[in-house]
Amino acid sequence: MGIIDRVSQQSAAAAAAAETPPALRVAQSITDQIGNTPLLRLRLFEDEAPGVEVWGKAEFMNPGGSVKDRPALRMIEEGERSGRLTPGKVILDSTSGNTGIAYAMIGAARGYRVRLVMPTNVSEERKQLVTAFGAEIVYSDALEGSDGAIRMARQMRADDPDTYFMPDQYNNPANWQAHHDGTGVEIWEQTGGRITHFIAGLGTSGTFVGVTRRLRELDRSIRCISVQPDEPWHGLEGLKHMPSSIVPGIYDENLADENMGVATEPAYDVARELARREGILAGHSSGAALWAAREVARRLTAEGRGGVVVLVLCDGGDRYLSSGLYRPRHR
Ligand SMILES: Cc1ncc(COP(=O)(O)O)c(C=O)c1O
Repeated sequence: MGIIDRVSQQSAAAAAAAETPPALRVAQSITDQIGNTPLLRLRLFEDEAPGVEVWGKAEFMNPGGSVKDRPALRMIEEGERSGRLTPGKVILDSTSGNTGIAYAMIGAARGYRVRLVMPTNVSEERKQLVTAFGAEIVYSDALEGSDGAIRMARQMRADDPDTYFMPDQYNNPANWQAHHDGTGVEIWEQTGGRITHFIAGLGTSGTFVGVTRRLRELDRSIRCISVQPDEPWHGLEGLKHMPSSIVPGIYDENLADENMGVATEPAYDVARELARREGILAGHSSGAALWAAREVARRLTAEGRGGVVVLVLCDGGDRYLSSGLYRPRHR
């Protein structure tokens, strides 16, 4: 599609939107704004795969800036409902960052103290965000990665069980249920049930497991593809190389139709392309999912088929500026 066609198509869409202004939103709490994120049409691969629609679920538009707002809220609500989280208890968990930011934001909004164990090499932006919401950080060894943080948090909880409420995102079914009841339903409705392929990265696996279970209930023919780093040492923050990691209790390795390994640099490259060509600033793991979406789109095209591919844009790129993801030398 030429630039003129694109602009006139966008102007027509803008005019249609102007005719039906959305209701001005009010909210009693910032946490009311979690979920119901937009599904964005991505045109990055349109030239090489013209018959394939690619859409990104814009989870970076949650108020805490990532996909993890949903499970964090659900786990805290479950804790309150079950009586395990009561006023005065400290929310404790291990987190590579985004879940921590979500706990910190929700904890501040609901009046809980939050203590987070994270490896020292987590990005500076994430540390500062968590601290801004008043949460405390306990550092674990960078060399031990997210598994070291998990072990330390478990030990802290074992040493002092009465002080802490530990949601334990790796083993808490409320993690994947948040995506089953929220993200998955939204994707189905936003595509009008036309989705043919779903792609998400694996961290705790909550997003992939929850959305996939929901989509399978709705249409068994949808292909669900999980994405993980192709080696233990990688730069894809938020994602886990499962064969060399403590496997999350909520993970079901038999769920995926396909499991794709992604290398760090190609994932960064496609994230940069997305920023420059579509104006969407996304993080490392979104780059990995996009890379996988390109592979799927190319395959479908080679087979002479079309498709509706949905991937998850887990968080925004501004969280990774200090990591060099968007440094000018990459121009
Ligand atoms: C940036 C980012 N991408 C992807 C994921 C993976 O999501 P999930 O834990 O639902 O597998 C995470 C999880 O922390 C994340 O922070």
